[in-house]
Amino acid sequence: MVAVPADVYSAAYARSLDDPEEFWLRAAEAIEWDVVPTRALDGTARPVPRWFPDGVLNTSFNALDRHVRDGRGDQPALIHESTVTGTSTTFSYRELRDQVASFAGVLAASGVSKGDRVLIYLPMIPAAVIAMLACARLGAVHCVVFGGFAAHELAVRIDDCAPKVLVTAAGSREPRRSVEYIPLVVRALAAAKHTVQTVIVKERPEVPGTAATGRRGAPAATWLDWDAAMTHAVPHDPVPVAATDPLYILYTSGTTGSPKGVVRDNGGHAVAMTWSLRNVYGIAPGEVIFTGSDVGWVVGHSYIVYAPLLGGATTVLYEGKPVGTPDAGAFWRIVRDHGVDVLFTAPTALRAIRRADPRGEELGRYDTWTLRALFVAGERLDPETFEWATQTLVVPVVDHWWQTETGWAICANPLGLHRRPIKAGSPSLPMPGFDVRVVDPDGQMLPPLAEGRIVLKLPLPPGTLTTIWDNDPRFIAGYLSFLDGYYLTGDSGYVDADGYLFVMGRTDDVINVAGHRLSTGAMEQIVAQHRAVAECAVVGVADEIKGQVPVGFVVLTTDADIDDARLQQELVAMVRDQIGAVASFSEVNRVPALPKTRSGKLLRRTMRQIVDGEPYAVPATIDDVDALTSFAAAALQRTPRGPRFAVGVRGPLDGPH
Ligand code: COA
Ligand code: AMP
Repeated sequence: MVAVPADVYSAAYARSLDDPEEFWLRAAEAIEWDVVPTRALDGTARPVPRWFPDGVLNTSFNALDRHVRDGRGDQPALIHESTVTGTSTTFSYRELRDQVASFAGVLAASGVSKGDRVLIYLPMIPAAVIAMLACARLGAVHCVVFGGFAAHELAVRIDDCAPKVLVTAAGSREPRRSVEYIPLVVRALAAAKHTVQTVIVKERPEVPGTAATGRRGAPAATWLDWDAAMTHAVPHDPVPVAATDPLYILYTSGTTGSPKGVVRDNGGHAVAMTWSLRNVYGIAPGEVIFTGSDVGWVVGHSYIVYAPLLGGATTVLYEGKPVGTPDAGAFWRIVRDHGVDVLFTAPTALRAIRRADPRGEELGRYDTWTLRALFVAGERLDPETFEWATQTLVVPVVDHWWQTETGWAICANPLGLHRRPIKAGSPSLPMPGFDVRVVDPDGQMLPPLAEGRIVLKLPLPPGTLTTIWDNDPRFIAGYLSFLDGYYLTGDSGYVDADGYLFVMGRTDDVINVAGHRLSTGAMEQIVAQHRAVAECAVVGVADEIKGQVPVGFVVLTTDADIDDARLQQELVAMVRDQIGAVASFSEVNRVPALPKTRSGKLLRRTMRQIVDGEPYAVPATIDDVDALTSFAAAALQRTPRGPRFAVGVRGPLDGPH
């Protein structure tokens, strides 16, 4: 266990590990149960211990109905701020409850019941939150797919979770173009093996595209118009479910092209969300949290939707960017307009704001006195951005480290429980229930300051993943097999003498691009499909704003007859078409060979170090030193073409994504 100083925080932390039953049963008192759990932990459950095995509840009831009943009916629950439509719309708890109950009725009328999957592919509009909570109301399992993913990624997810219903919108607007969703949905439905019975479309007159024109040629399914269906809907009551029943599946990138469906349960999730909102973020009922993420990511699931509503707070759903919509003051205007208490965003957004407004002049235009803290996650908060944000905002800037898999912070500075000193470059200290250790590649525990793989001792606390959807073996192989009794995070780092963790990066092929988790392996699969490519590697290299961007290195077939510009254009178009523009894949370099180990594994870390100009050691396991030398020489010649130049390299194959 990480050594921590004696204080309120460390007393709570120690209790959570010494007596998890007492700690989490007490935390569970914040939830209204249909059947109150008598036990916190079922240590016998597999593949991992499970929380509140005999508890019964409904998550939507806890997020909405109970607050209306208890006098919060008129309090704002959800504020939708949209720079796409130039509107701001507020839903009170009563209004949101009514919308959710009606949409649950629409889903039920479409045949959705407990345990069925519903895929949600929506932009940042209230319908996304309503659809998620409507699924929770029925005990159905939602699977939200980030709106920036292309048809292929959507099809893969349709096949994996086999939804009965797909909920989507006509479209959205991105800063540099409009996105019509329906043609993408139609392509995905056509590509998927699974048949979706019903597609529900939220029309958006303010953006291009409609279901009527876009769905021509779509595979057979019932198509419903959201608004029309809602006018006839019979509101549905919350359905009690077991605490251990699944609430949602959220896909995340692994090392291969096939994404992993992280499964979250109802009971443990409700308890962890409620505990963390109060104790980590310091948000009390009635206060306002603005999480500038997307509902397609875990940050959006947890701190745009579930935690704020379970905690009786007000949440801001922002359809816009941190800069350019219209300017770098967008976040600060929202803070002022809605009296935001806590802001949560990704470091990449702060870097973009800083670049556009280094002296904080935009910030100076708004009165942001309500803001108590800024939380960031998604990637490491670099010390420079930390210093800038701290000095500019003059509030605590809290880096916290977590993953789709954990659902909430593994390490944080728990402002609501007991604020600890902040150290630049560290996400601070482990949160209750997370027993964080650092080990070497053989699983041996490492002393403080030694960098190694970060593992978490089982059991993981409530709210963490229970498995990978329909694939226990993949869960066990990917996370639980490295070291018996421990969960492998995939991150490396070290603990300092005060028990603070420093997360240094991934140990696998996952990269973080502008806060979006992507797999270089998935991109390699696409690049390798090109007829001229014999071998390829996609490496995440450092980027000033996005943290990392993927860069392709290709070895061509001997008979390839294509110039570099054309090759790059085609490969960029293929990745945009199959994964989405969000991959920010815009640079391809031809190299004579790729450095590999004797067992044929790409020396990805070494390649990244070379491209980033970092010192590197020639690994002892290298197969061919000449390949490394020629790669390094070619990498030196490279002309970086960052995402900002992407417009110039789009090709004819380029789709809307
Ligand atoms: N739907 C469709 N396309 C999307 C999309 C979505 N939801 N999100 C991004 N894209 C597209 C963009 O339009 C862009 O396309 P383009 O190449 O045709 O211009 C491409 O994907 C890359 O987008 P993005 O990564 O957003 O880069 P950007 O240069 O437009 O903006 C930032 C840079 C830093 C402002 C932006 O990435 C950002 O706000 N990041 C924060 C992300 C975040 O909060 N993540 C959650 C982690 S907690
Ligand atoms: P995601 O599942 O998309 O939330 O991405 C999780 C991964 O992002 C982690 O495994 C880390 O690699 C990285 N990450 C998230 N937050 C942080 C942070 N605060 N510091 C360092 N890395 C982070």
